[in-house]
Amino acid sequence: MKSIKVGLLGLGTVGTGVVRIVENHQEDLFGQVGSPIVIEKIVVQDRSKARNIAVDGDRMTEDVWEVINHPDIDVIVEVMGGVETTKTYILAALEQGKHIVTANKDLMALHGTEILEKAKEKGCDVLYEASVAGGIPIIRTLSEGFSSDRITKIMGIVNGTTNYILTKMSQEGAAYEDVLKEAQALGYAEADPTSDVEGLDAARKMTILATLGFHANVSLDDLAVKGISQVTKEEILYGKRLGYEVKLLGIAERQDDLISVSVQPTMVKKSHPLASVNGVFNAVYVYGEAVGETMFYGPGAGELPTATSVVADLVAVVKNMKLGVNGQRAQAPYKEKKLKTDEQ
Ligand code: NDP
Ligand code: HSE
Repeated sequence: MKSIKVGLLGLGTVGTGVVRIVENHQEDLFGQVGSPIVIEKIVVQDRSKARNIAVDGDRMTEDVWEVINHPDIDVIVEVMGGVETTKTYILAALEQGKHIVTANKDLMALHGTEILEKAKEKGCDVLYEASVAGGIPIIRTLSEGFSSDRITKIMGIVNGTTNYILTKMSQEGAAYEDVLKEAQALGYAEADPTSDVEGLDAARKMTILATLGFHANVSLDDLAVKGISQVTKEEILYGKRLGYEVKLLGIAERQDDLISVSVQPTMVKKSHPLASVNGVFNAVYVYGEAVGETMFYGPGAGELPTATSVVADLVAVVKNMKLGVNGQRAQAPYKEKKLKTDEQ
């Protein structure tokens, strides 16, 4: 029986989780797809680095091209981050007919359209569930679960690091810098945490959600973005006394052809369900004209929650391979039409 061979780009927080889940759940995965899933090669920056997972040295390489060009590899799982160079690798892998699973919101928010077009041309899958809200299957929900509805509002806490910081500042009076260091140590923050605390990571995620939810090619440039670096402990405690929690909220709305998307620290009334989303947890509120109000909640970052979404995408790719239907959904969410923003 032919196994499905995977090239894993990255063995950091998320990559380690992917190896653990693929190895620990091998039997369940086999039951679902009918083939063994094997991580054939793993790309890292530094092979000599100490790891908190035991991996056979022969499987590790520092040469990305060895994996992209590997003739036996069917699927590339990209969990190393980065934008321009990573885009080059992904496009090259697609050119060779390899399917892609990625957790990279920076890449998908900036170059999603181009990557999905290439995927469609080559009959390949590009799945990116882990790129927004870690362990919450929100991308599948927006693109499939609500395909019958007209979504008019998406509101979310979509960055775990900042929610962790704001929660600790609110509940324990902790200092911003100390909690940021904790979030980094726990593997929640980006390699450069500026993108977390200045709202850019949330903005990239809201770009992806608005694009999928509104079927429009929303661009990062369309967003108004403000992060939490200027939020003080005093402001948080003052808000609390008045019955509010400060949350970094992404809000995407559409009215007819007008779309607005923003990310900013917001006073959320304690009675609102988003006010009680704490720590690394994320939540996405979706309003559809037919369904009404819905909300999705779960861990937004971290090793195993994020890897759960990555491996679920891997299973979907393999199921598509068995059915011979790869690449058929790749372009679906993106329309040529670009809707107006309030600045226009
Ligand atoms: P880490 O920094 O923990 O790991 C990155 C891994 O990629 C490391 O193993 C590193 O090698 C390797 N790597 C980085 N650059 C290169 C390169 N140029 N060539 C070869 N290998 C490279 O990142 P995370 O696991 O936290 O995040 C990975 C991706 O997942 C990012 O896109 C991130 O935004 C996204 N993500 C992260 C989440 C999280 O909770 N951490 C949640 C959702 C998405 P080495 O180990 O040798 O340094
Ligand atoms: N740095 C991101 C966060 C990782 O804190 O939400 C998950 O995308």
